Amino acid sequence: MRIFVAGATGAVGRRLVPLLVAAGHEVTGGTRTGEGAERLRAQGASAVRVDVFDADSVHRAVADAAPEAVVHQLTALTNGDRAENGRIRREGTRHLVDAAKRAGVSRIVAQSISWAYGPGDTPADESTPLDGAAERAGLVGSLRALEEAAAEIETHVVLRYGTFYGPGTWYARGGPVEAALRGEQVAGDPVAALLGPVVAGDAVSSFVHVEDAARAAVAALEWPSGTVNIVDDEPAPARAWLPEFAAAVGAPAPAPAASGGREGWERGADNTLARRRLGWRPLHPTWRTGFRTL
Ligand SMILES: NC(=O)c1ccc[n+]([C@@H]2O[C@H](COP(=O)([O-])OP(=O)(O)OC[C@H]3O[C@@H](n4cnc5c(N)ncnc54)[C@H](OP(=O)(O)O)[C@@H]3O)[C@@H](O)[C@H]2O)c1
Repeated sequence: MRIFVAGATGAVGRRLVPLLVAAGHEVTGGTRTGEGAERLRAQGASAVRVDVFDADSVHRAVADAAPEAVVHQLTALTNGDRAENGRIRREGTRHLVDAAKRAGVSRIVAQSISWAYGPGDTPADESTPLDGAAERAGLVGSLRALEEAAAEIETHVVLRYGTFYGPGTWYARGGPVEAALRGEQVAGDPVAALLGPVVAGDAVSSFVHVEDAARAAVAALEWPSGTVNIVDDEPAPARAWLPEFAAAVGAPAPAPAASGGREGWERGADNTLARRRLGWRPLHPTWRTGFRTL
């Protein structure tokens, strides 16, 4: 299949492109930089310089690639810039979807997140409504815009990913979560602000190894339209996973926090649809063993 990957050099994209090439697909990857283009060519893909905020450049890039499918793995998180990331989801997705429609693309796979569901005491499945709380309106609104735009393409699969861990992510050896555990966070660091307090409390997260995130995007090229949680098998409170993460990266164990303090939306996500119905098989079914590979 001819595939255009937007965000081809990001945490997921850089693992996804070699998987697609190895599976025999003809891949064009988008990047803003010469370095990104070189990396893509070295991975066996074609590269195109594109800024997703420039609608004309997106139209040209997609039209030239003439893809059968578009994979949207764009985020803008390297600098922890929440506003820029929201803009990527709204405006960037709009440009990408418009370009895909104009080029006659009939399939899209897009990256979303699995912690935007409304409050509850159990992991959320895909039928759970997104959070309507006013204080999360910016985040949820941008995700809704992304997911609704993707749904304008005939076959559209939205992957609601858990928190990424693995090399090159924030949950990696030498990453910002390790720095927080060591008390080495730089004051005012926007990534640290985005991560929030790193506390061994009751907030529940669902993780996914970034390699499994990439493998899910490959598999999703064959899935029917819908939204799918791509998370591991074990949603867990920070008081369970944070000490294991600390041990895995050789950081000091966090002091257990007092009970309570979980926001209703900090509930994790359920992967029954991906696992049982769509046959997704993660290499790392739980962070418990996955963290030990860091
Ligand atoms: N579910 C999760 O937990 C989750 C999801 C996403 C990210 N993150 C965290 O955020 C960290 C940073 O993410 P990342 O490494 O993927 O980097 P990123 O800075 O978020 O960039 C991701 C991709 O988007 C592209 N991009 C960004 N702005 C663009 C624009 N205006 N036009 C065209 N392309 C654009 C980048 O391409 P170029 O820079 O090559 O142009 C790159 O390929 C990760 O390591 C991860 O820990 C977590």
